[in-house]
Amino acid sequence: MPFSPQRIAVFGASGAIGTAFVHECLDRFETAKVFCFARSPDRIPVHDRVESHDLSLNDLEGLKARAEALKASGGLDLIFVATGQLHSPTAKPEKTIRSLSISGMEETFHTNTVLPAMIMKYFLPLLPKQQKGVFAAISARVGSISDNSLGGWYSYRASKAALNMLIRCAAIELQRTHQNSVVIGVHPGTVDSELSKPFQRGLPEGQLMRPVKSAALLLDVINKVDQSQTGRCFAYDGTEIAP
Ligand SMILES: NC(=O)c1ccc[n+]([C@@H]2O[C@H](COP(=O)([O-])OP(=O)(O)OC[C@H]3O[C@@H](n4cnc5c(N)ncnc54)[C@H](OP(=O)(O)O)[C@@H]3O)[C@@H](O)[C@H]2O)c1
Repeated sequence: MPFSPQRIAVFGASGAIGTAFVHECLDRFETAKVFCFARSPDRIPVHDRVESHDLSLNDLEGLKARAEALKASGGLDLIFVATGQLHSPTAKPEKTIRSLSISGMEETFHTNTVLPAMIMKYFLPLLPKQQKGVFAAISARVGSISDNSLGGWYSYRASKAALNMLIRCAAIELQRTHQNSVVIGVHPGTVDSELSKPFQRGLPEGQLMRPVKSAALLLDVINKVDQSQTGRCFAYDGTEIAP
């Protein structure tokens, strides 16, 4: 039976992939409600089936209260985490170990690892116990330790590898209470966004995907994934990415 989530939460709904994912859900699931969270809520898509909320680690009480309210109103069938950072004015991807800084590492881990962990903490229990529910967080192929033959991007790679470990731990724990739910990491491909913009030069022709295409493929992966695959990481084309 196709997965037809009716209550969907999207974190990072202001980003390129997050926004595209919201639109894809609204198109594909005609009666679904989408609860959108973003640091910049004014950039969340406006739609009568979208509800917008602030997302900040500085307001954990607010996040917890929102989770409790969503639980009381019916829980969630699908949770999609599309937040993440590769570069910022104060944290650049490091080419060499000489560039590592505590502040840069902390900032990257804060966004790519700690924020998704807090979302897991408060929102994973909202998934259904009786039927399929999915928690999918966008990781990255470069977070795979065994796939790393180029080096560089220390903090980004390490923060995504740590995210993959959190996904595995949470999947194991959730299995005990939510036998039908699935927790996965997903790799979106190389997608045109603010995050990838500084690194798009020199990409082979046709490799840069539009966010709308990536979002549709990721939703296909989420549709197909089953309980036997929980805790793992999948690329946009459905292939598994080794840890
Ligand atoms: N684009 C690619 O080629 C590619 C490849 C592999 C993996 N990914 C992953 O895909 C995910 C989405 O990236 P994207 O390409 O869509 O980039 P994007 O357009 O820059 O979106 C990033 C999203 O993360 C949010 N965000 C960043 N830092 C945050 C923080 N501290 N607190 C709350 N929200 C924060 C942004 O919020 P604001 O709108 O407020 O800035 C935005 O919603 C990321 O996890 C990224 O690592 C992307």
